[in-house]
Amino acid sequence: LASIEVALSDVPEGKSVTFKWRGKPLFIRHRTPEEIAIEEGVNVAELRDPQHDSDRVQDSKFLIVIGVCTHLGCVPIANSGDFGGYYCPCHGSHYDASGRIRKGPAPLNLEVPEYNFPSEGIVKVG
Ligand code: FES
Repeated sequence: LASIEVALSDVPEGKSVTFKWRGKPLFIRHRTPEEIAIEEGVNVAELRDPQHDSDRVQDSKFLIVIGVCTHLGCVPIANSGDFGGYYCPCHGSHYDASGRIRKGPAPLNLEVPEYNFPSEGIVKVG
């Protein structure tokens, strides 16, 4: 199956860049130190789909998720919504900067695909 390689230098700090992978949007977000601290500090027991931030990222600077809302499949908007991560305008789902569902109808966190870092500054997804 197709995999893609992305140079992480193409994703500036504070931005989420959308790539295309297997016909779906793929979000790569370069998180700020503030975002990392907030997401690591979330009380997992309060989450609808409880996952610690550290179980969703391999390098805390980079969040890599599939950009498909787990409600009915719309593409969420980056840096938007009540939790500063992603907002799905179709029916109002709010995701945090770890891609976790925090408010609205979506049942699950944004999916984290298989990926690895084959060399310094490169991520390979798939
Ligand atoms: Fe995203 Fe319904 S598809 S909230």
